[in-house]
Amino acid sequence: MARLSGKTALVTGAARGIGAAIATAFANEGAHVVVTDIDRIGGHAVADAIGGTFGRLDVTSEADWSTIAEQFPTMDIVVNNAGVTGFEGSVPPAHDPENARLADWRAVHAVNLDGTFLGCRYAIRAMRPKGVGSIINISSRSGLVGIPMAAAYASSKAAVRNHTKSVALYCAGQGLNIRCNSIHPAAVMTPMWELMLGNGPDRSKREAAMVADTPLRRFGRPEEVAALAVMLASDEAAYMTGAELTIDGGILAGSAAAPGR
Ligand SMILES: NC(=O)c1ccc[n+]([C@@H]2O[C@H](COP(=O)([O-])OP(=O)(O)OC[C@H]3O[C@@H](n4cnc5c(N)ncnc54)[C@H](O)[C@@H]3O)[C@@H](O)[C@H]2O)c1
Repeated sequence: MARLSGKTALVTGAARGIGAAIATAFANEGAHVVVTDIDRIGGHAVADAIGGTFGRLDVTSEADWSTIAEQFPTMDIVVNNAGVTGFEGSVPPAHDPENARLADWRAVHAVNLDGTFLGCRYAIRAMRPKGVGSIINISSRSGLVGIPMAAAYASSKAAVRNHTKSVALYCAGQGLNIRCNSIHPAAVMTPMWELMLGNGPDRSKREAAMVADTPLRRFGRPEEVAALAVMLASDEAAYMTGAELTIDGGILAGSAAAPGR
């Protein structure tokens, strides 16, 4: 039997990359998926491909979340996946602690952290009627270590990790069977990397350099993150809440300062 049959799931930032892979995996497991994104074209394409429903949602907008709550007042699974690095523009701004501009710092936190806060708030309210549900927040390995040149991204993802635990404890304290867990991927090959990797003959060298310190020596695949999300969304994870799961090719298992390296 499909692992998510009879469940409805909402995934943010699901027009491409990890969000699209999660939406697809959920549909393959029998869930009806509400595919949300600011990208209407990509979002509709994913929704059409998996037999889901598209909803336009900017995760930073309280008004958009209110509209979603009116359209989908109950929900079984919510994945707060939408995220930005701050390096999306053609001239990426500085994101180191000495030179980052406050506006750029805030823009990253608005999507990654405020968006997750609003998504969790919506989820709790939409799951309360049944008293059961699964909230999955996509953090990052960058939320567990410092990233000097992407300080806002790292800070926002660390806050997502912590907020996940507050949500988990709050829901349990309310007597609700609403679980909340975070996933911490390292480098996963999605369009997020395109600007950073670029094109041309040196691309494969740049890709290899990027994962040279990863024990498994490759990028992760969106489907691999989606498999973890399916498990957390399903009843198989009924005793898991407040947990943080790394999926990083082993990078956090050791230390660059390990003796003998
Ligand atoms: N790819 C990686 O290596 C990696 C590693 C760790 C964590 N993550 C996290 O995984 C999540 C997905 O990353 P990805 O690699 O698939 O990224 P991606 O850039 O390929 O896709 C992100 C999606 O989010 C959407 N989005 C951006 N701002 C939005 C907003 N304000 N409201 C709604 N949607 C918005 C985009 O339109 C896009 O469809 C992000 O939270 C990211 O930080 C990714």
